[in-house]
Amino acid sequence: MIELKNVHFSYGEKPVLQNITFSVSSSESVVIMGPSGSGKSTILRLILGLECPQHGEILFDDENIATMKEKHKREIRKAIGMVFQDGALFDSLSVWENVGYYLLEHTRLSDEEIGRKAVEMLGFVGLNADEIIDKLPEHLSGGMQRRVAIGRALLSTNPRVMLYDEPTTGLDPQSAENVCNLIRKLQSEKSISTIVVTHQIADAIGLADRFVVIYAGELVFDGNLEQLRDSDDQRVRDFLAPFKSSFGEVAEKKFVG
Ligand SMILES: Nc1ncnc2c1ncn2[C@@H]1O[C@H](COP(=O)(O)OP(=O)(O)OP(=O)(O)O)[C@@H](O)[C@H]1O
Ligand SMILES: [Mg+2]
Repeated sequence: MIELKNVHFSYGEKPVLQNITFSVSSSESVVIMGPSGSGKSTILRLILGLECPQHGEILFDDENIATMKEKHKREIRKAIGMVFQDGALFDSLSVWENVGYYLLEHTRLSDEEIGRKAVEMLGFVGLNADEIIDKLPEHLSGGMQRRVAIGRALLSTNPRVMLYDEPTTGLDPQSAENVCNLIRKLQSEKSISTIVVTHQIADAIGLADRFVVIYAGELVFDGNLEQLRDSDDQRVRDFLAPFKSSFGEVAEKKFVG
């Protein structure tokens, strides 16, 4: 479905990613972990075609996003939903305008019709539309904002792939669990391939079919939980050291779709 092959990327003179190769198959969930600044968000931006690699290929269904014309890229992007690191709702727009943003901008559907779709979507992401539909994002909790952002991504695209950049950062444990359950539900009910960047080891373990660890712009691990636990790569061990004690406990936990 998505394949990165020998991807190198620099911001100007600053090298950020070196020789990144991994793939995500249809309906698979891959979690990307790694220290701050290692290049995780950049990988998502490359997959979305927002940045272009200096070397290597990024394939979406065997087509190279990196060399595609902008128009074709926009078409591909309709199949990719993205939830950005900071949630990124529009502060001055109400919940329904946020969720229906793409439809308001790009279709001729009436406000009424878009409102109806927004209500339906809010229900799907587990929010009570009646209570929040006319509110501004600042009047919602962090967990609710994150779910509104996921709803917006779903209504903006017809995603076959969802990218989540730290979807649970800053949330209390209950809200984080709700968001993770929603991510799993989308993956299983709608067969959406999923890439999640997270620092939360419990979430990672609950969400991942496979793990990728990025360290200083290099891919240093690609494998399942057992392999991750047993990895003898020092960089992987260093990164996981603070979480080691919680591994046993959280290993059993799987979010329900
Ligand atoms: N627009 C930009 N221009 C220049 N450098 C950038 C830009 N965006 C990110 N970088 C740099 O690229 C590197 C990788 O950044 P990236 O945001 O991908 O890291 P990350 O792994 O997502 O980190 P975090 O866990 O803190 O979100 C960092 O050194 C960062 O400073
Ligand atoms: Mg990031």
